[in-house]
Amino acid sequence: MRRLTLAIALAVGPFVLAPPAQAQGDPQKGRELANKHCIRCHVVGDDPFAGIDSTPSFRFLTKLSDYVERLQTFYRRAPHPVFVEVPGVPRRTEIPAFVAKFTVTPENIEDIIAFVKTLEGK
Ligand code: HEC
Repeated sequence: MRRLTLAIALAVGPFVLAPPAQAQGDPQKGRELANKHCIRCHVVGDDPFAGIDSTPSFRFLTKLSDYVERLQTFYRRAPHPVFVEVPGVPRRTEIPAFVAKFTVTPENIEDIIAFVKTLEGK
């Protein structure tokens, strides 16, 4: 019995202990998504004339030590909950959107993060 338990522990252990697979975003897709959804308010890349004044540029975001977390949770941070929907995530507010709404999936967000990472140090 003991041997069997050990055998099971050895067989299952690596899978239990292995960290969850890190979703790897696609920076090219992320650039396209940022150009589609974020650029009307943010400076997302090279074009300094896009965006509105009250937003951080994505290049500036990379200077913050927690920028990846900020991007992972952007749809919960003001002002986004009003106009961003993520399938499977309950809406936080029923306030009517004041601008055009859009939907992003968790995979889309990983892609956007992969793209913003390419702006680090620029
Ligand atoms: C309609 C305008 C608008 C759109 C579209 C928009 N944002 Fe924002 N975003 C803002 C504003 C305004 C702020 C600054 C909020 C503040 O300083 O309180 C902001 C801040 C942020 C921040 C920093 C949040 C924090 O708490 O530090 C992140 C990250 C962000 N946006 C990501 C995105 C991403 C990614 C997209 C596209 C998928 C996007 N935003 C689209 C208006 C927008």
